[in-house]
Amino acid sequence: MSRAGQEAGRSCKCVDPSTRRGFLTAMSVLGFELAADRIPALAEPASERPKEGDFLVAVDSDKPDRLAPNDIPLGGPLLLAWPLDPATDTVRKGSRLNKVLLLRLDPATLVGSTIDRAADGVVAYSAICPHAGCEVNGWMADQQVLECSCHYSHYNPREGAAVIDGPATRALPALPLKVVEGKLAVAKPFTGRVGIVPT
Ligand code: FES
Repeated sequence: MSRAGQEAGRSCKCVDPSTRRGFLTAMSVLGFELAADRIPALAEPASERPKEGDFLVAVDSDKPDRLAPNDIPLGGPLLLAWPLDPATDTVRKGSRLNKVLLLRLDPATLVGSTIDRAADGVVAYSAICPHAGCEVNGWMADQQVLECSCHYSHYNPREGAAVIDGPATRALPALPLKVVEGKLAVAKPFTGRVGIVPT
């Protein structure tokens, strides 16, 4: 090994890729968060993608109360949430790709498959923009569109988060919802792969 390489080795606070956690951490550092759902044997509950029966908790809340439809303001703004595995009480925040945006709209204004995916008017989509991975956290109430402020892609929440304009080339994956004991719960996994999809 070169002198420079040895110096780097001595000063590096490296993860140990031979362990499960070390491997996932190394992949995450390298920008391969998607690896967790591609390697089921390595996935941990906090990093696994949302599953049917998961509840949802607000990202900003210290108390991870399970969200009910009425916790989402009608007509916006949107609320960012994490899935919660009820079996282990694990908030699935081990991967940013699990972040979900929730928006409550008049059910009568929803279109197509979004009607069946919504619960009491609440629609859920991946909060990660498929263009370059920024967080979609803008709700333009005057235009009734979701906005990614990085490069201004706009999405129609009433119609499957289809791209209206901007550089994104695909819709935000939807997370179908249902109501269980008065709380919002995941009805089905994401409708597509979340995050940036390599071409
Ligand atoms: S990352 Fe969202 S528009 Fe570019």
